[in-house]
Amino acid sequence: MKTFYIETFGCQMNAHDSEKVVGTLMAQGYTQVETPDEAELVFYNTCSIRDKAEQKVFSRLQQFKKDGKGKKFAVLGCVAQQEGERIFEKAPHVSLVCGSASYTKLPDLLVQLETGNKRVTGLSLDTDQTFDTPLTRRDNPYRAYITIIEGCDKSCAYCVVPMTRGPERSRTSVSVMKEAGDLARAGYTEIQLLGQNVNSYRDPSAAGWDFAKLLDEAGRVPGIRRVRFTTSHPRDFVKEIIDAIGENPALCNHVHLPVQSGSSKVLDAMQRQYTRDEYMRRIEWMKSARRPIAISTDIIVGFPGETEADFEQTLALLDEVGYDSIFSFKYSQRPNTPALRLDGHVPEEEKTRRLMILQEKQRAIQIKQNAVYVAQVEECLVEGFNQATGQWIGRTSQNKTLNFLRRGGDDDLRGRYVEARVTRAGPNSLAGECVN
Ligand code: SAH
Ligand code: SF4
Ligand code: F3S
Repeated sequence: MKTFYIETFGCQMNAHDSEKVVGTLMAQGYTQVETPDEAELVFYNTCSIRDKAEQKVFSRLQQFKKDGKGKKFAVLGCVAQQEGERIFEKAPHVSLVCGSASYTKLPDLLVQLETGNKRVTGLSLDTDQTFDTPLTRRDNPYRAYITIIEGCDKSCAYCVVPMTRGPERSRTSVSVMKEAGDLARAGYTEIQLLGQNVNSYRDPSAAGWDFAKLLDEAGRVPGIRRVRFTTSHPRDFVKEIIDAIGENPALCNHVHLPVQSGSSKVLDAMQRQYTRDEYMRRIEWMKSARRPIAISTDIIVGFPGETEADFEQTLALLDEVGYDSIFSFKYSQRPNTPALRLDGHVPEEEKTRRLMILQEKQRAIQIKQNAVYVAQVEECLVEGFNQATGQWIGRTSQNKTLNFLRRGGDDDLRGRYVEARVTRAGPNSLAGECVN
């Protein structure tokens, strides 16, 4: 019996890649185990978006430097692609290094490992392939990820992704729709369309669907009750996407639209290809949509050249938009990115200060935003049960966590859609009672 363990870092794309890798390994006769100690082959699917993320894999590998005898180690994902063969120098006990654009070659690479090759690599980015496989082993029993586009053709000045994931490749609409149909038949009711920039989707087949069309059709698959998508890039975000959400109730009314900064000057230096005003126009579309759309974003503080006045524009943007949630980060220098050449480095303590101010402000906004839901009835997909509080954990279409109590009935609600009345609202979640 050949055993493997896998740990995944980074974004949903990585999480879903790991599901495909696990399925691929199982088809090769490997068995998944729960701890690295039990495994013959240890995989790390890595992230390199910020320095801290990159360091994680090296600290994991360090732990096994001495007591990893008899095991083989494999580094996958974005650090693998970025560092390539240098990983063998940094961690000589690693024997496989493979980036995401080479996963279709994994069965072949595993054979090379088994036949005794000490150092095996899959690092080519020169591909027009996507990693489609029917072997995917999904972790979540309710929500299924579907990759629709891989790679990134943008060139944001701070970002490693175009270098770690290669050029944009879209799957054909036929293969995406087939997977959605198969998932519905397998009992999934929620799907999440994935890509670094889902709205740059371009069907390579003759049908020629754009993202809005694909999204709308995904929401018409019988059995699929919810469709989410992430991430969208503001430049390619067209009004048709909002129109589709307005008209098709299966499309969740939540859009994640990373802004990065509220200052057009900083956006220009970041090479984001939109201005503050252009971003706000897209927000206006969402605000005037047929049904209320929750909005979330990503923000970077302390990008080179960001002044106090630029930062204040970001703070003002938070108020103007009224985000339902944000992910915020201190700018982190990444290898081979254009931003390395920029002047105006912001000191670490200043980045920390800005991040804290930003997060404090957003917390106050979320308390206000969430209070609006009190007394409303929301439909939730039940994802779990909290033993400690006796509450069911639900998620609304707007991607809010709604923890609710249910009087009477002791059947398992997980995977079901129920209605709950919101009785309390906090900055990060809602609480309520089941009304069914
Ligand atoms: N493709 C997505 C983002 C993927 S990375 C998009 O364009 O929106 C997720 C987030 O990480 C980014 O939105 C950005 O906010 C953050 N990020 C990327 N590179 C970073 C860096 N060098 N330092 C700090 N944050 C970074
Ligand atoms: Fe990175 Fe920009 Fe591509 Fe997003 S769009 S993955 S931030 S380069
Ligand atoms: Fe990280 Fe790569 Fe995703 S760098 S955020 S795992 S695309």
